[in-house]
Amino acid sequence: MLIVKSLNLNYGASQALRGVNLSAKEGEVTCIVGKNGVGKTTLLNAIMGLERISAGEIFIDGSPISREPAYARSRRGLALVPQGRDIFSQLTVEENLRIGLSGLPRSEKKIPPDLFQYFPVLSDMLHRKGGDLSGGQQQQLAIARALAAKPRVLLLDEPTEGIQPSIIKLITSVIKSLRDRGDMAIILVEQYFEFAFELADKIIVMERGNVTLDGAKTDLDEQTVRKYLTV
Ligand SMILES: Nc1ncnc2c1ncn2[C@@H]1O[C@H](COP(=O)(O)OP(=O)(O)OP(=O)(O)O)[C@@H](O)[C@H]1O
Ligand SMILES: [Mg+2]
Repeated sequence: MLIVKSLNLNYGASQALRGVNLSAKEGEVTCIVGKNGVGKTTLLNAIMGLERISAGEIFIDGSPISREPAYARSRRGLALVPQGRDIFSQLTVEENLRIGLSGLPRSEKKIPPDLFQYFPVLSDMLHRKGGDLSGGQQQQLAIARALAAKPRVLLLDEPTEGIQPSIIKLITSVIKSLRDRGDMAIILVEQYFEFAFELADKIIVMERGNVTLDGAKTDLDEQTVRKYLTV
């Protein structure tokens, strides 16, 4: 569904992505792991169209999209849950969710009710300002906002960062049920190894802008992957 080929990206003189290849299939969780600063966020931003690549191509269902702006990519079914959540703190929960709907045709601009089955706490807080939510509630809102767009490729950037275990459990079960629906490719960037390894169908390890290991979880040894993550 999503294919990334030979992606290069530079920040000024420094090269943040060096020939990155990856593919993600629907009904699967593809986990990207790697230490701080190796380019994980840069890669998701490049896929979403928030950073300009200098070489390579990104395909959705065979169509090249790397010349399209972010809003066009979101219409094609890409959605990003950014690192640090990035919700609009002055807008209400409901308004934040409506922003997720902005790329949809008018007839579909309705907050899907199943969002509140995934994240019941949000239905009680529709009129509260985003900035007044706890960190864990904001993370749920950020995921719900991405899901409101009915994505076919969901990009999640470290959704467990700074989140307590009970909410991590909830997020785990939401990701599992999204995967089991079978119509969405999920790309999960994670440093929390147990969470990543439990959810992953496929694991991609990044080091300094490169993909250095890429395989099905069943073919990878947990200790080997773990070694890439320990400093
Ligand atoms: N806007 C920017 N301008 C210049 N350099 C940047 C910019 N954003 C990131 N970088 C650099 O690019 C490299 C990759 O950063 P990136 O944020 O993609 O790493 P990451 O793997 O997501 O790290 P973390 O695990 O800490 O979130 C780092 O060396 C970083 O300092
Ligand atoms: Mg990052």
